[in-house]
Amino acid sequence: MNRTNIFAAVATLALAGAAYGHGDVTPQPVNTDALPEVGEEWLIENPYRAEAAGEDVWMKAVEIGASGYNQNCARCHGLGVVSGGLAPDLRYLEAAEYGDEWYVERFRHGMTQNGTTKMPAFGELLGQKAAWAIRTYIETRPDDGELDDHADRLAAIRDELMSGTVADPASLASELQGIADQVETGSGAPVADSVAFEAARTINDDPASWKAAGDILTVGLSAAH
Ligand code: HEC
Repeated sequence: MNRTNIFAAVATLALAGAAYGHGDVTPQPVNTDALPEVGEEWLIENPYRAEAAGEDVWMKAVEIGASGYNQNCARCHGLGVVSGGLAPDLRYLEAAEYGDEWYVERFRHGMTQNGTTKMPAFGELLGQKAAWAIRTYIETRPDDGELDDHADRLAAIRDELMSGTVADPASLASELQGIADQVETGSGAPVADSVAFEAARTINDDPASWKAAGDILTVGLSAAH
């Protein structure tokens, strides 16, 4: 177990303790109004991938899915979808119809064994749009250690962003994008939503955005060390 996993395991256990301490686990509603309708019938393939729905819908799905995941799944499946061992690591479910079918089966019906609910059913409570938004978030998680080779440079960029004087924000953003382009997902999805990717799209000409991007990198770097 590397340090990232230990961090995730500790965080997951803390969350699990908090959740179970209150008895029943109440699913938290996910606001999916910003996503296109997908009909009543349950699909077997993610409709929010960029290839199918375009980049804007895909990006929205990642954002909405992140919040849906954190509120409903992280306590068992781990923060950032890095499993601490309580439940399977979902990052490696193949981002294709095969993985989607399995995903949506579990999402809808959960898993009960010998009368014990190991995973609650979410289908009726959260609905299909939330299911696929969460799926989109899960499949864009970076694989383990993908930013390790860039840690020093990312720390230097972070320091520059936090200093409040950034000579050329656009070129920092494009350097971060270049790093982000090298990051791979565990699921085989083409784009990983790494902290480099997130920071790159946060930076604009407003100094407040530099601080926000610096904070994103700080969180990512602390998880990796
Ligand atoms: C109370 C803990 C718990 C919560 C909350 C939970 N899960 Fe699970 N999940 C599990 C366990 C345990 C398993 C393994 C079940 C088994 O033995 O097959 C599992 C399995 C899965 C699987 C199948 C993984 C595989 O590799 O076979 C998927 C997909 C999944 N969960 C998605 C989710 C999603 C999405 C959410 C949030 C909406 C969620 N789970 C919330 C405990 C949980």
